[in-house]
Amino acid sequence: MCGIFGYRGKDLQLVYLLEGLKKLEYRGYDSCGVIAYNLGKFLCKKNSGKIEELKESLTDKLNNKYSSALLHTRWATHGKPIKLNAHPHKSSKKNIHVVHNGIIENYLELKKKLKKKGYKFKSDTDSEITANLIASFYKGSIEEAVFSAVKKLKGAFALGVLSEFEPDKIIAVRHKSPLLIGAAAEGFFLASDLPAIVSLAKEAVYLKEKQIAVLSAEKIKLYDFNGKRAKVNKEKINIKTVSTNKKGFKHFMLKEIYQQPKVLRDTLDIYTKNNQINFGQLKLTKKYLKGVKNIFITACGTAFHAAHVTKYFLERHTNIKVEIDTSSEFRYRDFNVNKGDLFIAISQSGETADTLAALKKAKKRKAKILSICNVIGSSLARESDSFIYTPAGPEIGVASTKAYTTQLMCLYLFCLHLATIKNTISKTNKNNILKELFKIPLYQKKILRQNKKIAMIAKKFSKAGCFLFLGRGINFPSALEGALKLKEISYIPAEGYPAGEMKHGPIALIDEYRAVVCIAPMDDLHEKMVSNLQEIKARRGKILAIINPADAEIPSFSNQIIYIPKLKFQEISPLLVVVALQLFAYSVAKNLGAEIDQPRNLAKSVTVE
Ligand code: F6R
Repeated sequence: MCGIFGYRGKDLQLVYLLEGLKKLEYRGYDSCGVIAYNLGKFLCKKNSGKIEELKESLTDKLNNKYSSALLHTRWATHGKPIKLNAHPHKSSKKNIHVVHNGIIENYLELKKKLKKKGYKFKSDTDSEITANLIASFYKGSIEEAVFSAVKKLKGAFALGVLSEFEPDKIIAVRHKSPLLIGAAAEGFFLASDLPAIVSLAKEAVYLKEKQIAVLSAEKIKLYDFNGKRAKVNKEKINIKTVSTNKKGFKHFMLKEIYQQPKVLRDTLDIYTKNNQINFGQLKLTKKYLKGVKNIFITACGTAFHAAHVTKYFLERHTNIKVEIDTSSEFRYRDFNVNKGDLFIAISQSGETADTLAALKKAKKRKAKILSICNVIGSSLARESDSFIYTPAGPEIGVASTKAYTTQLMCLYLFCLHLATIKNTISKTNKNNILKELFKIPLYQKKILRQNKKIAMIAKKFSKAGCFLFLGRGINFPSALEGALKLKEISYIPAEGYPAGEMKHGPIALIDEYRAVVCIAPMDDLHEKMVSNLQEIKARRGKILAIINPADAEIPSFSNQIIYIPKLKFQEISPLLVVVALQLFAYSVAKNLGAEIDQPRNLAKSVTVE
């Protein structure tokens, strides 16, 4: 998704500023640009393509120093990914430059009005109207013009504004799209995302909803949308610098897949003490948790699959009603969440627009909000009553891997914690599941050691035109996740289905050219999966089975097999199954020469609806 990086302070080299923008690359983008100012001179350049190309086109200016700057990475929503649509956008009168994240919903209506006033438009974007709109209110004070303009805008917008008449000020606006300011010795850094500034600043000012910041060389002034001054709260940044080192791995995704045993071990260390679950920091009291009757869980994409696994696990071990939905549905549904219900939002980035909107809706209805999130200072974490941090570390590959399994581990532990408080699980049962959770990192390593074999299997399947992923019970979400991983990085159509539903439609797809990935660990639904496999075999479908080594039946029906260790409590097997699926998807995509870490059209942090 689009990224904003900005600067106001002592003179800094352009190359340094471009490095800041590069920290936002992992979000996914298709074009980029910069406006920078110093000593009466402006530099304005945009390009379709990568920041490296922008840098190459500015070779002779890289050592030039600038005291005000706005930089942007664009992820196309309105208009193609071409230079003309890249940011910054400049107003056709009064020389105002704007970078924008989000979507302006009433841009067509505003465009019409501005055209009547003589303003010209060059791009197909919604963003360009913000520059012309601000210009239409400009009478000598850029902040006054911004105060007036924001009242006319509908939708989501984080803006960075620079006027050529007042280049000693950078204006920042936050409305439903995150924006923060890093305070450093040399000046202020503006960013849409914390990772962009963690190595640059020790303190951050997180803009609140409907706040406007005016950055001068020495000061931040904060206002609400009515121009009323607000207090500036600087907070210590306590996350580590994002590592952009692949540590010998060919892709970040592969590195992150291999990090899973370590980050799951860290998760267990953080949330257990003396081999017992310990959520000491959780702001949800035992009294509250004992009484909770309804739980709603929301998330998007991979994080939603973590919600799905959690539903199965919670339903087995507690008497709580659990409802799940994708955030984009929850936010517009009349779901029956009430005061005292627990609303859990799961997100790697903590900035996903739909998840934040669903959360806000539940908050309005006075539900208690618990977020499971990988970014401490994120909007999601800040909006929640309580927060469980997933210590996966920064995830750079766009396809989520280690964040997913860390979410799962946190959620398994939280569910056991809840079941213990509610007395719906025996102590022995809980301790035995916990013991097995401790073995997961070791078991994951066993799967990772099969990487070469999985790569060979992937070679055999890479030419399949379409994939069906089947699973049952708690591994139905694993089937969804396997299909999502494969399609997003290899672009092969893939569908995840509950195996029991196969006869109700997807079986029509099966012939000798289609691949079916069957997830069938030896659990209480194993026999049902065996029947499904026979049905696929009878139709000559190519089967890749994910099974346990002790399985005596499935190998005879399968074309290829990936073994995962057998667990006593198969309900935690999604933590193993997914590692095999991630490696498989990765190898298929690699065989096809796909851009694994930044797949086309995808963004790491989906900050628009
Ligand atoms: C898939 C993937 C996405 C995200 C989804 C939610 O590999 O990464 O489906 O899971 O966009 O993002 P977060 O977790 O940041 O809310």
